[in-house]
Amino acid sequence: MVAVRDVDSLRRRIQAWRREGLSVALVPTMGALHKGHLTLMDRAQKMADRVVATIFVNPKQFGPREDFAAYPRRETEDFEMLVAAGVHVLFAPDVPAIYPPGFATNVGITGLSDVLDGAHRPGHFDGVATVVTKLLLQVLPDIALFGEKDYQQLMIIRRLVADLNIPVDIIGVPTVREADGLAMSSRNAYLSADERARAPALYKAITAAAAQIAKGGDIAAALAVARDAIGQAGFGTIDYVEARHAETLQPLKAGEPGRVLAAAHMGRARLIDNVTI
Ligand code: PAF
Repeated sequence: MVAVRDVDSLRRRIQAWRREGLSVALVPTMGALHKGHLTLMDRAQKMADRVVATIFVNPKQFGPREDFAAYPRRETEDFEMLVAAGVHVLFAPDVPAIYPPGFATNVGITGLSDVLDGAHRPGHFDGVATVVTKLLLQVLPDIALFGEKDYQQLMIIRRLVADLNIPVDIIGVPTVREADGLAMSSRNAYLSADERARAPALYKAITAAAAQIAKGGDIAAALAVARDAIGQAGFGTIDYVEARHAETLQPLKAGEPGRVLAAAHMGRARLIDNVTI
């Protein structure tokens, strides 16, 4: 695996592959890699001839009181994991390589970005959309892969690619879970042993709510039970527990394809999760 830090070197590698007629997959990450990321890499390997992984802790998607400085950074371990995963190029730019002095562009997706996590993390999805647009245009891959754990992010990326006619297929990959159901996340590293033991309650609660709704149960009642179970398990602030239309993320009406999504705080960690109905 070759690691590159600037866009020109990245493009030179990709152009050489293109001249050989090879297809390219992009897997954007913020590092602190876990099995969930490796599943994305594995899927990318199966779907394309060459895989580009990126590691960039994107300052634009963190609010002023969020964990940008504390976000886990483990470049050496990540590098070894990507080599073992058979990734061909790691693009790991520093902040000025992505946001040079004078950078003034913002990619904002209205509607989808304003609800759920967007309502609790103002500006977050503009930061995500801006950096993902840049990465897509820098790599110009055939496919780009994202985890369904960040379900709202996935919907927003699908929207921006369609709206901006970026010629790439966006592949959503199911969430990878620990044996007890906790969704794998770099932020799980913030959990103490006791918090870690309580954290799977989030998944259990939304799974139970999704099952109730799928059976035709009252949506508001199912969500209230889930909120209660999450609170009982020792979560602090519950940002939301919602049933939403699977694509528009508007409040779910009976019979529509849906998703239950939740975000809640456990100690220093803000955990998000979602399941299909
Ligand atoms: O999901 C993530 O890790 C990030 O939001 C992404 C897509 C790499 C953009 O910074």
